[in-house]
Amino acid sequence: DKGEFKHYMLKEIYEQPDAVARTIEMALDNGETTKLRDDFLQRHETLLSGIHHVQVIACGTSYHAGMVAKYWFESLIRIPCSVEVASEFRYRNPVVVDNTLVICISQSGETADTLSALRDIQKQAPAGLVSLALCNVPTSSLVRETDIFLPTLAGPEIGVASTKAFTTQLVALILLILKVGVTQKRMTDEHLNTLLSELHQLPGQLYASLNLDAPIKTMSESFEDKKSCLFLGRGLQFPIALEGALKLKEISYIHAEGYAAGELKHGPLALVDKDMPIVVLAPKDSMFDKLKANMQEVHARHGELFVFASEASQMVAEDRLHLVYVPDVCETLAPIVYSVPVQLLSYHVAVMRGTDVDQPRNLAKSVTVE
Ligand code: F6R
Repeated sequence: DKGEFKHYMLKEIYEQPDAVARTIEMALDNGETTKLRDDFLQRHETLLSGIHHVQVIACGTSYHAGMVAKYWFESLIRIPCSVEVASEFRYRNPVVVDNTLVICISQSGETADTLSALRDIQKQAPAGLVSLALCNVPTSSLVRETDIFLPTLAGPEIGVASTKAFTTQLVALILLILKVGVTQKRMTDEHLNTLLSELHQLPGQLYASLNLDAPIKTMSESFEDKKSCLFLGRGLQFPIALEGALKLKEISYIHAEGYAAGELKHGPLALVDKDMPIVVLAPKDSMFDKLKANMQEVHARHGELFVFASEASQMVAEDRLHLVYVPDVCETLAPIVYSVPVQLLSYHVAVMRGTDVDQPRNLAKSVTVE
């Protein structure tokens, strides 16, 4: 039931603060900032204590969640992490080193390529292999065929375009990383405390980001007759740029590409002219100054910028630079909060263009054939 909402997608976007709060509660007691819940993945501590490498396998939006996890695994707890789309991984006879944690991320748990890639690795059977399903459907094939089940507590997702499944995947991944970090003593108490208190603030920040609906709807009017669009981000926001581009193309049918902003001058800058909208994810983080230089490159070539930034960035709107301030959030969790404005932007552009938002043409919710 869509209730008061016009589409399931919009309803599911609005469910994110609750879905994320539920997912956080798997690992975190109310207000607790010194430790994870004792029962969180407790049965699997022995398995998790032996892993030295992570391989993430997924498709589409779930793959983008895996890309964020790579940045987190390596920067937060120094465990090497590779990420690949399942449809490539399964056909290239890849090497899986010993003591790898294979994380299959899938909302449905029935995606054919993801399941096949997992089965191929299990056949290869490297020593110390541990498999984990990060999945929204507890009864799925993926969950049955893996050692560890880490649920996303998003609740059923009806809209074909994934929204709350994605943000809950990100939350579950950071919880897993904290668990591995604590189990393998790869994280100081102080760092853990900081991240836990930041996690407690996340549902509120997501809730506040839903207030951006009205200004984003206004922004979306500029996209109505556009043919093509770029999404830019750096660091943890690069996967969100990819996700924003995927969302826009799948529901509005506008061609969109996500790019790591540092790659601009290696090609895509040639596309930029006054008809090219460029969406930029610009939190005030360690990459902000570099990103700002990238924005100037675009602006100088008359591209039209649509920037999601934090107030702390002190950016101001100007000619051909539209700006929406996103609630303040720490750098680590910013990709979760910045997912919301790109979802809302795609949604409003699609509604304006009159597409079938919940059932985009040619796509299925669960891709059970390759
Ligand atoms: C995009 C989208 C798809 C899915 C992909 C994988 O909005 O929903 O890209 O993410 O088909 O599906 P799951 O996560 O069920 O394996």
